[in-house]
Amino acid sequence: MACTKFLTLNNGEKMPVIGIGTWQAPDAEIEPALDIALEAGYRHIDTALIYRNEKAIGRVLKRWLDAGKVKREELYIVTKLPPTAIRPQDVESTFKQSLANMQLDYVDMYLIHTPFALFGNADGSFQYDDEGRVKVDKSTNHAAVWAEMEKLVASGLTKSIGVSNFSKEQLARILQNCKIRPANNQIEHHVYLQQRDLVDFCKAENVVVTAYSPLGSKGIAKFNAALGIVRDLPDLMDIPEVKEIAAAHKKTPAQVLLRWIIDTDVVAIPKSTNETRLKQNLDVFDFQLSAEEVDRLSALDKNIRVCDFSTMRGVEQHPEFTFKNQYTN
Ligand SMILES: NC(=O)c1ccc[n+]([C@@H]2O[C@H](COP(=O)([O-])OP(=O)(O)OC[C@H]3O[C@@H](n4cnc5c(N)ncnc54)[C@H](OP(=O)(O)O)[C@@H]3O)[C@@H](O)[C@H]2O)c1
Repeated sequence: MACTKFLTLNNGEKMPVIGIGTWQAPDAEIEPALDIALEAGYRHIDTALIYRNEKAIGRVLKRWLDAGKVKREELYIVTKLPPTAIRPQDVESTFKQSLANMQLDYVDMYLIHTPFALFGNADGSFQYDDEGRVKVDKSTNHAAVWAEMEKLVASGLTKSIGVSNFSKEQLARILQNCKIRPANNQIEHHVYLQQRDLVDFCKAENVVVTAYSPLGSKGIAKFNAALGIVRDLPDLMDIPEVKEIAAAHKKTPAQVLLRWIIDTDVVAIPKSTNETRLKQNLDVFDFQLSAEEVDRLSALDKNIRVCDFSTMRGVEQHPEFTFKNQYTN
């Protein structure tokens, strides 16, 4: 099993269309899971400084690289500049922290994690006010941050740079003010939140879209519960149309959800630390959805955002926080 499809970025680099997501995968889970994933054929790994698992990922990568079981150029490693460091003066040092964590000389893609910036503590945790709201840094200047991101490419520390959770307007502003065009926008994208306008804009501008939470992020319930938030979120793998199409192909609902994404030339990064499920999520290249099935899945859009940053109380005070005006739950 291997990922047999790649998308060519606007700088000629190639990104595997399936990667393994690693959010909410603590060290004890991600280390064995990554061994299984690499063995199964995954080469694209999505992490972020804020996931606090870069060191564990780095340990696995070092073992595989030292043993000659994989070549560095076969791997596609993505990490992200956290919301607490979205300031020009913090870009280089924060990036170097991720690089050191993963014991790598370069990454393949470095993303600005969110369009909004927060104040953080030395350990990377968020600062809160007396009422428990995150402290937002309203001085965010995307163009100035982007200029620092461009320097990382120039010095060979990352092959490509991009953004995450950026709206059409935010991306357009960078496109108008850059020397190096963003190669990637990583956004929530699945059958219930298709964001067609944004996806079409990215494609027209030659910015590859990566779909995060492509399976609906079941594990987010645990994350929300820790914040004391109870939201009745849909189970995408239980949608009748998805289940019917899966049965017709003798595939699982998850495989149908992923195939629908990658067939539209969007990258998907499902997270699993379970051997059966992570293998299943890569095993999506041996069947094809009919045009009618694609239409049925495309008709499911409900504008339901699962990964809703507004659960971080106070974030809506940031001028670059745009989610609240776009989609309803
Ligand atoms: N840029 C951003 O702001 C942002 C935000 C969110 C996510 N992300 C990235 O995108 C990745 C994926 O998103 P996500 O983690 O939110 O959600 P997801 O990949 O849509 O869903 C992961 C959840 O689904 C379960 N699962 C995985 N494969 C399955 C299968 N075949 N059948 C049934 N259940 C399955 C996983 O549990 P098990 O592990 O137990 O299988 C986990 O609970 C993240 O890990 C992260 O790398 C980025």
